Amino acid sequence: MWKLRIVTLFCVFVNISCSRPETEGEKTFDFDAEAIVVGGGIAGLSAAVEMGREGIDVLVLDMNSVIGGHAVMAGGFAIVNTPLQAREGFNDSSQQAYLDWMEWTEDGNSEWTKYYAENSREMIYDFATEVGVEFVRVQAGYENSVPRFHFTSRGAVDFVLALYRTALELPNISFEWNQKVETLILEEDQVSGVVVRNTRDGEEKYFLAPHIILATGGFEGNLHRVLENWRSDLPKPDRLLMGASVHADGNGLDIAGKAGAGLSWIDRHYIYTNGMVDPQDSEGILAITASNDNAVWLNAQGKRFTNEGGYDKTILSDLLAQDPAHYFAIFDESSRDQLSMRGREWIKNHASGHPILDNPNAAYKTNSLEELSSVTGLPEINLISSIKRFNSLIDAGEDADFGRFSSLDEAPPRIDNPPFYAIQFFPMTRKSMGGIAVDMNARVLNTSGEVVPGLYAIGELTGSVGINGSHGMDGMFLGPAVVTGRVAGRTVVENISSLESEFTIAPKALEQVIPNLSDWNPMLSRGDLKSLLENNREGYWHFQVSHSLVIEWQYDCTLCHSAQVPFYPINNTESKLAQSQVCVYCHGRGTPSPLAERIGNPL
Ligand SMILES: Cc1cc2nc3c(=O)[nH]c(=O)nc-3n(C[C@H](O)[C@H](O)[C@H](O)COP(=O)(O)OP(=O)(O)OC[C@H]3O[C@@H](n4cnc5c(N)ncnc54)[C@H](O)[C@@H]3O)c2cc1C
Ligand code: HEC
Ligand code: HEC
Repeated sequence: MWKLRIVTLFCVFVNISCSRPETEGEKTFDFDAEAIVVGGGIAGLSAAVEMGREGIDVLVLDMNSVIGGHAVMAGGFAIVNTPLQAREGFNDSSQQAYLDWMEWTEDGNSEWTKYYAENSREMIYDFATEVGVEFVRVQAGYENSVPRFHFTSRGAVDFVLALYRTALELPNISFEWNQKVETLILEEDQVSGVVVRNTRDGEEKYFLAPHIILATGGFEGNLHRVLENWRSDLPKPDRLLMGASVHADGNGLDIAGKAGAGLSWIDRHYIYTNGMVDPQDSEGILAITASNDNAVWLNAQGKRFTNEGGYDKTILSDLLAQDPAHYFAIFDESSRDQLSMRGREWIKNHASGHPILDNPNAAYKTNSLEELSSVTGLPEINLISSIKRFNSLIDAGEDADFGRFSSLDEAPPRIDNPPFYAIQFFPMTRKSMGGIAVDMNARVLNTSGEVVPGLYAIGELTGSVGINGSHGMDGMFLGPAVVTGRVAGRTVVENISSLESEFTIAPKALEQVIPNLSDWNPMLSRGDLKSLLENNREGYWHFQVSHSLVIEWQYDCTLCHSAQVPFYPINNTESKLAQSQVCVYCHGRGTPSPLAERIGNPL
């Protein structure tokens, strides 16, 4: 009875009609798909491909207009016992990985950590090989006794695009873009559909399926929510920057919450300590990450407070203990070239000089330490004595204060060669390490620990199933996204056969195969584009951010748009496949983009 009440309440809440397709008999529904995946990030894509390859009818919904979520910007995957490790001479084992990770994370989810250590090779490495992705490099990390951080040549965007192309080639997987799932449809004793709102035209509709997989990502793009769910044993910073995308707002937590989902590890976050304010963000909220291995870090009182080269988890607690919790990284001209940047890499193309070091909105640059004190506001006496002390430790070849180096060889160069630089850093959000509670089959658990029938959660929405415990690890977000995505896919595959006899799937509307060429306007000019970009329009976020760059970098439209990739939202597989070729013009690191040969590498 109470379930019926939920349905009624839900209808009032979303303010749409509750009529639904005619039902014949008790258990015959017209479903739109056998499984709906909410979110086309790397977790959702992995689930879709897993099910699609087994012949399941899958519908993927995403509020964005493009595929991939955070993985488009991300790097590598933690994987255990791979052919690449073997080729490089690294001897790994699942047992060792399990021990390393449980020690580092302190309270990681031991069941999932064990499963991951034992299955990541098959679930990630072999899967990548099957869809045509090659890992080319494996990197070491503090938490790993052997290198396990695996990279493809351009970063995770390679994996995303390969999965996407695999999905496009499977006729039983379809995609709907700009569809924001707002709530779940709960009926009888299970979740049976979703209500969506089109972010471009506001149209509301619902899609029905007996299995709903939530893959909406973490909530690190929602600073308020992060601070509300802050570890009680760590001080809250008074200024926290945002290092994740606007789509990572945690709306999936609310959607699942309304179906009774429980939470686990919800106060755990991978907070980075090297976020600087993006000089292009007028509101001063968005972060870019940067670092200079030769810099000394001074707190607001002008004093060192941590081993700058230490473990990031130690640095975080040292930084949060400062009042206020920010610092200046200070270095001199001889270490200028040591500055490295991650994320938002396109700003590298910006001004004529260096986008940070020669940009007065991003870095202070002065000819003396006295001037540096006056522009940064750091107390002059402390600033000068801290630098003097640091230089004397360098001369002695031993950091007696914080243990950063213990020989002349390890010591950085002295800081005494003007101009001097100071860059201000704040803590910044990046990855959620807690979220929706799930079992080992990726089925959502309610607050009493019971399975919510028909509902699954994967990827960062689950906080990477708590694998990172209290301290984040390299590659342990992308990796768990793929693994949990496939686990959920397999669970659905195992359960679907028993449902087949009871449900009918409505035939899919055939996609329009030939683009309507009369809609394609090859004469759309840069000026037309400028006016299209003038106002922020909901649902056009990616079009805006990408085409602002098109204008700034003076790209020729025909580089990316042709009859196959037209100027209007595409709706057939051939165009989608063609469009997937142009993403790496802006996304992906390492190898130069195809565009580089024509206009010089922008990154
Ligand atoms: C700059 C950067 C670098 C990183 N580097 C690494 C790395 O090197 N290694 C690593 O392991 N991890 C890394 N990470 C983390 C990793 O990228 C993410 O944890 C992972 O990609 C999350 O995948 P996901 O599919 O779970 O979620 P997301 O990638 O967040 O995808 C969620 C998708 O759901 C959509 N969505 C959200 N809400 C709705 C809704 N209501 N309706 C419809 N659609 C919705 C979003 O538009 C999005 O496409 C990095 C993250 C960032 C930001
Ligand atoms: C580097 C590749 C690239 C270049 C160059 C480029 N575009 Fe695009 N364009 C894209 C991609 C990718 C999309 C899909 C973006 C999305 O949906 O977010 C797109 C989408 C569009 C759309 C459709 C927006 C919608 O309604 O969904 C228009 C209009 C458009 N581009 C105009 C232009 C014009 C005009 C130029 C030249 C001044 C241009 N583009 C140059 C890659 C490019
Ligand atoms: C002309 C450059 C350009 C092209 C081409 C382009 N993008 Fe982007 N994309 C951007 C910019 C700029 C951002 C904003 C990143 C930020 O917020 O820092 C972005 C962001 C994204 C995001 C959000 C990332 C996140 O962290 O959530 C996704 C997903 C994405 N792009 C996918 C694609 C896909 C898929 C394609 C190819 C179809 C593509 N992009 C083509 C410039 C581009």
